[in-house]
Amino acid sequence: MAKQIPAVVNLAFPNGRKLDVPTGLFIDNKFVPSVEGATIDSINPVTEELLATVSSATEQDIDIAVASSRNAFKTVWGRNFPPVQRGKLLNRLADLLERDAEAFAGLEALDNGKSAQVAREVDLPDSIACIRYYAGWADKIFGQTIEVDDKGLKSASTRVEPFGVCAQIIPWNYNIMMLAWKIGPALAAGCTVILKPSELTPLPALKFSELVAEAGFPPGVFNCVPSYGPIGGAALASHLNVDKVAFTGSTLTGRKIMQAAALSNLKKVTLELGGKSPHIIFESANLKDAATHVTGGIFLNQGQDCSAGSRLYVQASVYDAFLKELKASAEEWTAGYGDNFKEGALGGPLVSKAQRDKVVNYVEGAKEAGASILYGGTKWEGKGWYYLPTIIGDVTPDMKVVKEEVRLIIILFIHHRYSDDLRSSFVGVKIFGPVLVVSKFNTEEEVIELANNTTYGLGAGFHSSDANQCQRVQASLEAGTVWVNQYGLLYNQSPFGGYKQSGIGRELGSYAIDNYTQIKTVLWDYSGGSSQ
Ligand code: NAI
Ligand code: MG
Repeated sequence: MAKQIPAVVNLAFPNGRKLDVPTGLFIDNKFVPSVEGATIDSINPVTEELLATVSSATEQDIDIAVASSRNAFKTVWGRNFPPVQRGKLLNRLADLLERDAEAFAGLEALDNGKSAQVAREVDLPDSIACIRYYAGWADKIFGQTIEVDDKGLKSASTRVEPFGVCAQIIPWNYNIMMLAWKIGPALAAGCTVILKPSELTPLPALKFSELVAEAGFPPGVFNCVPSYGPIGGAALASHLNVDKVAFTGSTLTGRKIMQAAALSNLKKVTLELGGKSPHIIFESANLKDAATHVTGGIFLNQGQDCSAGSRLYVQASVYDAFLKELKASAEEWTAGYGDNFKEGALGGPLVSKAQRDKVVNYVEGAKEAGASILYGGTKWEGKGWYYLPTIIGDVTPDMKVVKEEVRLIIILFIHHRYSDDLRSSFVGVKIFGPVLVVSKFNTEEEVIELANNTTYGLGAGFHSSDANQCQRVQASLEAGTVWVNQYGLLYNQSPFGGYKQSGIGRELGSYAIDNYTQIKTVLWDYSGGSSQ
């Protein structure tokens, strides 16, 4: 049912501070309601109460947004806007985000449920720096001159040109950060962007849209269309006038997007699909230090992190000693349960009731299968969709918590007999919660086998003070990012992405520019016809 909604919602933070957030779709630098009046209700996962109702794009709205993006690419952006000026606008956008960082951190906390302090100290500074990093790239994208003839009468040169209209579909776990990772390289490269935030957390991207207009980007360069995945997301993925789709989220949705691209106009596709990342403790590791990396690697953002280190392998000789350190470190992660705005709060609720119930089902399944709960293992008794930081031991490689690939879904999907009903009955493929599973190993060879025994390959980490071992192991792990004696830290300058079914393409660093550019080869003949 179409609802009339106010154009702006006035939100209150627990400290009494107020913030206005626009509720319309952001198209051509203006907030407009959905043509059909469709809406999304966004819930605060801490209070379980309605936070805001915003417009939701349907197919008609997507068509309007795509037309706006195409027009902007042809007339005011792309070839018609100098790279130096693109960089200047991106720098201005980063400055505005820095000015309003406190408000954005609060908004992330309200809409997603994450710790406001973590959002303030991690999400926002990293996102601001990411936009600045790509502002610097805008005028440093260039081709090559290739000599093809000794006499210099013929040559080849390459131009690095933007794809054009890019759809960017992001998840709910790091709203502003995922937005920055996506729009930074796309806008720097000269593409126009249609961003679709998750239906679970539409507010940060809408608030961010105001800054785009304030920074002075021409209308249509950045459009933002909150929508449900199967509606607005699917319309973007199959749109004939979209040149590229970039996606971060679940493997199943990634497959659908790739399929939609293949069946429509073969738009370019990049995917970041999460994983089931291994974290290894060798006996020579500094155990106390490693324990903080392990808990940080799984409990940050309640495990709702694509590269969360969810499979822990501990060398048998230090297993007991390490588990003691691990439990002590896990305790810190309930700080702030019930109040994600409290200073010192680290943990928060899961983003939705469905996400929390999925975690409950997994852990109950593990218990039934004979695993022992070494820490946590239940919901948190209180308001909000919290789950206790959980450590599961005595797991065997066949248990679903360790190896979550449900082949049936894949088979059904490939044979086009896949439906959303089926998906909801099997949707336990990734835990994506504060749940760590621990296994023992004896030898380096054995643990490399275990670590790589997965269809994913986003991240992997290990701790060892044996330099030769560090060299051997980093080279043996099948993952897009390997952390040595640390876990989870990312830099805007260094690439991030997946091996195997964790994705296609790399985000961040210079590599992300490749996701938004194509190479044109220009062949020159200066011989005046004298040379063949
Ligand atoms: P999802 O992958 O369905 O959603 C991510 C984004 O894709 C959202 O913006 C959503 O609206 C959009 N989307 C959904 N269906 C679509 C479609 N058919 N076409 C185009 N876009 C579509 O993930 P969801 O449902 O939010 O979470 C389910 C699970 O996915 C999580 O439990 C977790 O395992 C995984 N996930 C992984 C993430 C990562 O960082 N790699 C982030 C979010 C979820
Ligand atoms: Mg929400």
